[in-house]
Amino acid sequence: MSATDLDTAHKPHRLLTFNILRYDPKDPASTPRMQQYRIEEAESMTLFIVLNEIREYQDPTLQFDFVCRAGICGSSAIMVNGRPQLACRTLTRDLPDETTLAPLPFFELIGDLSVNTGKWMRGMSERLQTWVHAQEKEIDLHRIEERMDPDLAEQIYELDRCIECGCCVAACGTAQMRKDFVGAVGMGKIARFRLDPRDTRTDDDFYELIGDDTGVFGCMSLLACQDVCPKSLPLQTQIAFLRRKMATMGLEGVPFVSRFISSTC
Ligand code: SF4
Ligand code: F3S
Repeated sequence: MSATDLDTAHKPHRLLTFNILRYDPKDPASTPRMQQYRIEEAESMTLFIVLNEIREYQDPTLQFDFVCRAGICGSSAIMVNGRPQLACRTLTRDLPDETTLAPLPFFELIGDLSVNTGKWMRGMSERLQTWVHAQEKEIDLHRIEERMDPDLAEQIYELDRCIECGCCVAACGTAQMRKDFVGAVGMGKIARFRLDPRDTRTDDDFYELIGDDTGVFGCMSLLACQDVCPKSLPLQTQIAFLRRKMATMGLEGVPFVSRFISSTC
């Protein structure tokens, strides 16, 4: 054991204070209020452990979401001192003595820290048709899959790592002003399917889906999406690329600009 380990082992555990926003929208008698809980910090403690201990030993009515506890399901996203992040991946040692927890804004509130990200993600997916649009009507499940260039597969995989946690939407100023904004998550999905050679949709089709203020032209490049994405997805690069592409396509219909584009591109 190193000197630093010994130091940490003998450090007295902090008494942590959590101020949690409580509200049950289904209960007409409920009004939003902050409730305070105190808990002794333990080694390698995460917010997942904190919330479970509070529910187990102090308050069985506290609502919050968890499934995998490993940063894969995306369901534990909450506001931690004003910043969206995954509770299961947040260590208390990175937090001050007093922490405020609130539900993600923008999404439908189920109660306390629990929000219905799934409902919004499904609506966004249906609206943007986030699945491979293959040419064949009948899929032959026994056919051997076609080879894909490894570099391209890697690029698609990179964007497919999205866990639909909702942090990027909760952090985005545009999303707070426009309820119909598809968010960085939606544009990231379009970027993913645009890359996929099995998807037969054209850029015109993608323009129809995100070529307006609810998509690439609504984004004000506030950059918070990329700052908070727990999977460090390259959201900014993708959004900027799509916006440039869609802007060029939109301008192609204007005769003078169209001549300029074809003489310069
Ligand atoms: Fe979460 Fe990142 Fe996906 Fe947004 S893009 S939903 S922050 S994983
Ligand atoms: Fe929002 Fe990200 Fe654009 S924070 S405004 S989607 S750059």
